Amino acid sequence: MAEGTFAEEKLVSSMFSGIWKSRCLSVVVSLGVPELLCNSITPVNVQEIAERTGCHTDEKIYKLRRDKGPSLGHIVEYYGSDEVWAAMLAFPEAVKYGDTAFERAHGMNLYDYIHTAGKLEYSVPTKSENMASDMGTNQRRLEFAQNYDCAMSMLSQMDLDSTQPSLATVYPWVKCKRIMDIGGGEGQLLSQILKVSGCEHIKGVLLDFPDVVERAKLFLTRENIADNRVTLLKGDILDGIPNCKEVDTIIVKNFLVIFTEDGMVKVMENCRQVLARRGRFIIVNSCNPEARDTEHNVTKTGLQQGFRGIHVMTMSKMGHFRTKSEWLNLIDRLCSRVAFQLNAVYETGDGPTLFELLKCE
Ligand SMILES: C[S@@+](CC[C@H](N)C(=O)[O-])C[C@H]1O[C@@H](n2cnc3c(N)ncnc32)[C@H](O)[C@@H]1O
Repeated sequence: MAEGTFAEEKLVSSMFSGIWKSRCLSVVVSLGVPELLCNSITPVNVQEIAERTGCHTDEKIYKLRRDKGPSLGHIVEYYGSDEVWAAMLAFPEAVKYGDTAFERAHGMNLYDYIHTAGKLEYSVPTKSENMASDMGTNQRRLEFAQNYDCAMSMLSQMDLDSTQPSLATVYPWVKCKRIMDIGGGEGQLLSQILKVSGCEHIKGVLLDFPDVVERAKLFLTRENIADNRVTLLKGDILDGIPNCKEVDTIIVKNFLVIFTEDGMVKVMENCRQVLARRGRFIIVNSCNPEARDTEHNVTKTGLQQGFRGIHVMTMSKMGHFRTKSEWLNLIDRLCSRVAFQLNAVYETGDGPTLFELLKCE
């Protein structure tokens, strides 16, 4: 066997075996095993667990419990959900015809599925008997939405927990005065920045869909962020930014990836409207490893970046993750359409990369 071949086979095997690992984890979480274990006052033996759930346990299971705030369990629940699996089934067709697998499977995009329960009716001819019987019901869509936010918060937390320099320390946030996080989810990143020592003067603005913003309000309270430090805006960035004072910094973290290039241009044009002269537009995203780089495909947290990119492609309008050089090329193209220029790139230890763009006249 040629030198190095085994390592590559191991990597490939670990990637495709993810389909089984993911489904198994999903079963454990959906059966409520983590909560059952963590909430028992007296020890529960394997026999009892087996009787009640048909599963066996592991002492690390607490990391999957979902009753104590965002956890790995929410991520498992999301990636292993029937909605995502249905989209994966439609993935080959979507690749062939160049559209979005989630929309093929569900007849609407991910965010409509999440945010228009009760308004936009779900009727999918392809729904299989084998899929969760409640997929598409309003109740299920609300649960899916809540779980999605928690999953994003947990992913965000994992990004924030990268080895030094972390997102909180790698960038000189102290020079910012008013930071807007677009598609900021529950506000994880914003709250971390506001807590950085020396950043007590910073005011934050968070823009996201209305129900996400409602949950962000609760999250920020739990994080002891004073009400007067964050303005919460409900809306769709594609419709523009409603009633907002000028900001000097805008962050888009794990956000541009969900748009086509035309969509990204629209986002950036709308951002320019509220951004101060020479304001900063900071793109935060994990980069895929460059071609033939097998060493950096699996992050410290075990996430396989290349395959995470496949997920993004499945769920959104051909959005996808990029290598750093692909990001730089993309930024070049975007800056030729909207007046921004790349100013600096910051690397965290083993987490996302920050691309700092400046608004040009
Ligand atoms: C992939 S998540 C990233 C969340 C967060 N920035 C992070 O890094 O964890 C995308 C976020 O963007 C929000 N979002 C998606 N499309 C949006 C739009 N058109 N306008 C405003 N928010 C949007 C979603 O609700 C979600 O909170």
